[in-house]
Amino acid sequence: MTPAPADLTRAGLSLEVGQPAPGAVTVTLSRAQRRNAMTPSMWRGLAAIGRGLPEGTRVVVIRGAGPSFSAGIDLRLFTPDGVPGEEPLPDLAGPGAEDWIAACQQAFTWLHDPAIVSIAAVRGHAIGAGFQLALACDLRVLADDARLCLKEAALGLVPDLAGSKPLVDIVGLPRALELALTARTVTAAEAQQLRLAELVVPAAELDGAVSDLAAALLTADPAVSRAVKELLAGAPGRTLPEQAAAERRAQVTLQRSRISR
Ligand code: ACO
Repeated sequence: MTPAPADLTRAGLSLEVGQPAPGAVTVTLSRAQRRNAMTPSMWRGLAAIGRGLPEGTRVVVIRGAGPSFSAGIDLRLFTPDGVPGEEPLPDLAGPGAEDWIAACQQAFTWLHDPAIVSIAAVRGHAIGAGFQLALACDLRVLADDARLCLKEAALGLVPDLAGSKPLVDIVGLPRALELALTARTVTAAEAQQLRLAELVVPAAELDGAVSDLAAALLTADPAVSRAVKELLAGAPGRTLPEQAAAERRAQVTLQRSRISR
C-alpha cells in the first residue's frame, strides 16, 4: 500500500502519483532547508514507497526539493544531540549493525527492480548517501550545476548504501577507487564524461528533460521494458554465450507470455 502522505511528510518525503506522466511517480526529498540531508526515517520512507508502488508504475523519478539533490546523511546524527525525533545511530561496530545497514539499504535497492525504470533528477549537490541514491537509479539526468561527491571515506566510512556496485559498473574500478578515496567533487561535465550522467541540461530545463525521458520510456510495452531491463542488467555477470542464451530465453518467455495474455 502507498504510504500515507502525512507519514511521508514526517520522513521528509513527498510522492506524486502520475507525475511527470501517467504510469510514473515522482519522489521528492523534501528537506530543502537541510539540503535534503537523509535520516533513518527518510530511508524507511523510501523503502516503504518502493514496497507500496501503485499498481502499474513503470517509471520512478527521484528528485530533491530546493537547490540540492541531497547533502547525504544528516551529519547531526553523528553528534551527541542527534536529530530531533530520530533514533540515534546504532554502534556501527556493534552486533546488530549489519542488520541495521541492511534495512537502510532497502531505501536504495528497490530502484533496481526490473518492473520500473528509475531516473535521478539531480540539481546541485549529491553528496555521500545522496550520490549513492543517484547511483541506485537506472538513469541520471543532471542539471549543469550538479556536483557529485562520494564523501564517505573522508568521514571514516565506507559507502555502504548499495552504491559501490553501480559506481564500479559505471566508471570502472580505477576511477571508482579514485573517486571514493579522494572524496573529490565531480562536476556535471565530468560526470557526463564518466557516464555518470545520461544527460546534462541547463538547470532550468531539468524538469522538462526528465519529463521527456519518462514519456519516452513509457512508450515501451511494460512486459518488454521489464524483459529488456532484466536482460541488460544481467549482462555484465555473463559470458557472451551465456548472454546469448539469456537473450533466447527472454525472447521465448516474452512471446509466450503474449500468447497466454
Ligand atoms: N546534515 C545536516 N545538515 C546539513 C547537511 C547535512 N549533511 N548539509 C547541509 N545541512 C544544513 C546546513 O547545516 C545548513 O543549516 P543552517 O541553515 O541551519 O545553517 C543548511 O543545511 C544549508 O546548508 P549550507 O551549507 O548553508 O548550504 P550550501 O548550499 O552553501 O552548501 C552543501 C550545501 C555543499 C551540501 C553543504 O551544506 C555541505 O557540504 N553539507 C555537508 C555534506 C556532507 O558532508 N554530507 C555527508 C556525506 S557522507 C554520507 O552521506 C554517508
